[in-house]
Parts: sequence; structure tokens; C-alpha cells
Amino acid sequence: MKTVGREQLDRVVQGVLRQWPEHAKFLEQSLAGYSADELALLDGLAGRVLRLMGDEAGDYYASYRWMCGEINKETYFFKKHGRYRLATFEEADREVYSNGPFMKKYVEGILASQVLWKNHSSAFLYFRQDFLPRLPEGFRYLEVGPGHGLFLSMAAEDPRCARAVAWDVSEESLRQTRAAIAAMGVEARVELDRQDIHAPTRAPETDGTFDGVALCEVLEHLEEPREALASLGAFLAPEGLLYVNVPLNSPAPDHIFLLRDEGEVRDLFDAAGLEIVDLKLVPMTGYDLARAQAQNLTVSCFVLARRGR
Ligand SMILES: C[S@@+](CC[C@H](N)C(=O)[O-])C[C@H]1O[C@@H](n2cnc3c(N)ncnc32)[C@H](O)[C@@H]1O
Repeated sequence: MKTVGREQLDRVVQGVLRQWPEHAKFLEQSLAGYSADELALLDGLAGRVLRLMGDEAGDYYASYRWMCGEINKETYFFKKHGRYRLATFEEADREVYSNGPFMKKYVEGILASQVLWKNHSSAFLYFRQDFLPRLPEGFRYLEVGPGHGLFLSMAAEDPRCARAVAWDVSEESLRQTRAAIAAMGVEARVELDRQDIHAPTRAPETDGTFDGVALCEVLEHLEEPREALASLGAFLAPEGLLYVNVPLNSPAPDHIFLLRDEGEVRDLFDAAGLEIVDLKLVPMTGYDLARAQAQNLTVSCFVLARRGR
């Protein structure tokens, strides 16, 4: 049944269900529990996702279904061995980032999941409602690992944004990010670069310059997460704000760094010299927080942090 005020959400949901009818209960659970205001924001999110998918929405929904299958395989390994299957960047680069056809479908699937998974749509709401409004007029923004470009394009189109810089290590991600910022009409405002966060060649000129830095679903991909967080801290202006979205217990084809609980997140930020000013946990679709934690299932962790005093 279609609902007034969420036509774009319904378009995405119906598009997926045409290819994957058995996914109906999951999608229903994913969108349950939101307020009318939140659903209106998520309808806007769905509109953005539809715009980025353009004429190829059917391919994106197929990629989404394929990606869920890949994650199921990793989940099986994780449950059996209690660790992620891959451990090094080199492995993830070979299997995923530099594997063009795999990466294309994977990033497409992640884009669709922004609307379709509870923890991902909540990450969008957090970015939109808790992070962006805290940035000052004329803010300078850095994002590492923009992938599909959804968050980057939203920051760049904010009229208060004076400068947007984004780095990603994958050519395919950069291609999709470039397409996204073009589709949103903000390409002229974004400086896009191929950079590994572990070896940022522009560090000297970026130190202390950014009012907002975002690292969304990237920390779990890193070999040296503490060092990466510390360098992001160094890029922050003195009153700058870092937003990190990192999933806990979240097996995926390119995840190599396992965080198990909130305590490990707090220790990591502390070791990186960052002060956490807000932290929120949102469990995966279909579970409440206590049950997800008890079963070591995926819980997304949203963190706002500043440079330690
Ligand atoms: C799961 S995607 C996240 C996309 C998007 N930020 C989101 O929240 O959905 C992870 C992204 O991080 C990039 N990435 C992984 N390791 C990186 C590194 N060492 N330096 C820069 N980018 C990296 C990948 O290429 C990919 O685009």
C-alpha cells in the first residue's frame, strides 16, 4: 500500500520488491519506528538515491540483492571463526577496491542500502540532523572514502559550505563519487583526489584546516585505524568536528578491522587523542540494541569527536 508523503521511499521499496519479493518483511521492519518528521527526511533521502541511480535503478537493486548475499557469506565465516575473513589492506584491495566489476556492484548496493537498512538510514539522519548543523557558516569539509558520494554531495550543496575535499583509494569509488556530485550539480565545489588515508600526500597543506571531517563506514577497512584517526584529528581546525560512522561486528567482503563494542570504540578514540562529544548506537534491521549486542550482530556506531584538549 502506498503512503502519502513517502512516495519516493515507496518507489525504492517497490523497485527492490519487484526483484526480491521475499525481502518484504525485512524492509517493513527497516522503516518501522520512525517519526513522521524522520520519514519525511528519509523520503528526501530516497529522492536523492533515486537521482543518483538515474535510469539504472533496476541494476542498483540487483546489486543490492547480490551485496546482501556476499554479506551473508561473510557473516557465516564470522560466526564460525569469530573474526573477519580478511586481515590486510592488500587482500581487500585485490579482492574488492581494485576489482572493478565487484566494486561497481558493491558500491551500488551500498547506495541502495542507505534507504533500506535501519542502521544506514539512521546514519543518514544523524549526519543530516546532528553533524551538519553543528558546522559553522563558511565551513571547510573533508570526507575520506565517499564511495557512492551521497554524504559528500549533501555537505557540498549546503549553502554554508565554502570548500569540500574528498579522498578515496578506489578508482571505481572515485568514478561513482564523481558521477554523484555531477548528478547533484555540485562538482564545481568539490576537490576529489585519489588518496590513501594512511599516506595522505597533501597532509602539510591540510593540517588544521577543516571545520568538519567525515569518515563514514571506512574505519573498519583500515590496517592502522588509530593512526588514521589521529591524522584526521590533525586535519581538524581547533574547534573542528569529526564524524565517524563505524559498524561493530559487521562482516563484509572488505572489512579488516573488527570493533566489538562501545568500549573498544572509546579506547580507540582516546588512543588517537580525540575527545568524544557524542556517541550513538543503532542496531541492524530487525533487532533491538540489547539483542543485537547479546548475539554479536551488527550495530552501527555514530561518533562526534574533537581534538583532545
Ligand atoms: C563501504 S565504502 C563507504 C562509502 C560511504 N562513505 C558510506 O558511508 O556508505 C568504503 C569506502 O572507503 C574507501 N577506502 C577504503 N580504504 C581506504 C583508504 N585506506 N583510504 C581512503 N579510502 C579508503 C573505499 O574505496 C570505499 O569507497
